[in-house]
Amino acid sequence: MPKTILLLGHTGKLGRALCNSLSSDHLVIGKNSRDFDAANFDQVTELIDECHPDIIINTVALMGIDQCELEPEKAQRINTLLPHYLAKRAFERNVTLVHFSTDAVFNDEKQDCYTENDSPSPLHLYGVTKYGGECLVRSSCERHYIFRVPLLFGKAEKQNQFVEKMLALLDAGQKEIRVSNDLVSSPTYSCDVAEQVKQFLLNEAPFGTYHLANEGKASLHELIAELVVLLKIDATVEKASFLDFPSAGIKNTYTPLKSVKANALRPWREAVQDYCCSLRRRD
Ligand SMILES: NC(=O)c1ccc[n+]([C@@H]2O[C@H](COP(=O)([O-])OP(=O)(O)OC[C@H]3O[C@@H](n4cnc5c(N)ncnc54)[C@H](OP(=O)(O)O)[C@@H]3O)[C@@H](O)[C@H]2O)c1
Repeated sequence: MPKTILLLGHTGKLGRALCNSLSSDHLVIGKNSRDFDAANFDQVTELIDECHPDIIINTVALMGIDQCELEPEKAQRINTLLPHYLAKRAFERNVTLVHFSTDAVFNDEKQDCYTENDSPSPLHLYGVTKYGGECLVRSSCERHYIFRVPLLFGKAEKQNQFVEKMLALLDAGQKEIRVSNDLVSSPTYSCDVAEQVKQFLLNEAPFGTYHLANEGKASLHELIAELVVLLKIDATVEKASFLDFPSAGIKNTYTPLKSVKANALRPWREAVQDYCCSLRRRD
């Protein structure tokens, strides 16, 4: 049955993909920073009262390890207190809450894929505040899905995330870029995540916390090198270390995700091929 979905952050990388996937079956009402300030919870309540959603999807976050170290109070408000607030409002109204979290809730000790059975132990404020959000959603609203996703690629309006920044440099004609070969994740296509979320909602899968990631793992260097080959860009991608790029916060170096509860998404290289096709169609 079609549902009314309030999608917070519909213009973000994941929000765009969710909007595309869910709009065919549901009424999706998208809101972004032009419509409300996620740090102002009165405005959040107004949105909920206005839309009467059956489902609230929250993709809003203060992203980035450095950004969170620089703005700790904002990080706590957006990444921890906002999901808590949404969970309480969802509980009161018997609404389902879909919330997104991150591989950055884990440390690097496992040196293998993290599953839902592993205990989070974040290394930095971004991870701590996102984990706080997860815990408060779990304790405040039974009708929740928390989807942890790793490094995402996919169409995005802004070029402020890693993959888009690299592609923008190459687009601008840079002939050589240096990319860390010692940061390993499981690169994941935003469209594959959105399709999986659609299936969860359609099948009314059991509520809980799930990992959604394309299968396999890759360093940032492997990912960008693959994109350069598939997009036939005339440039060299040199291997570097994350230590060559100083940052305010401690970086995660090894956090690929895998699920022991949900179907695996296809291998990341297959997903990258589709992503490149969609980028070529744009040209
Ligand atoms: N991208 C990744 O690699 C990655 C990896 C792991 C986990 N995640 C998680 O996945 C989720 C979605 O990430 P994403 O990459 O889609 O994020 P994104 O591209 O940065 O999009 C964020 C969305 O939230 C909106 N937003 C941001 N701040 C807001 C504010 N103060 N008030 C109202 N709206 C605001 C933005 O609106 P505007 O367009 O108006 O700015 C945008 O629509 C987050 O929970 C993130 O922690 C992402």
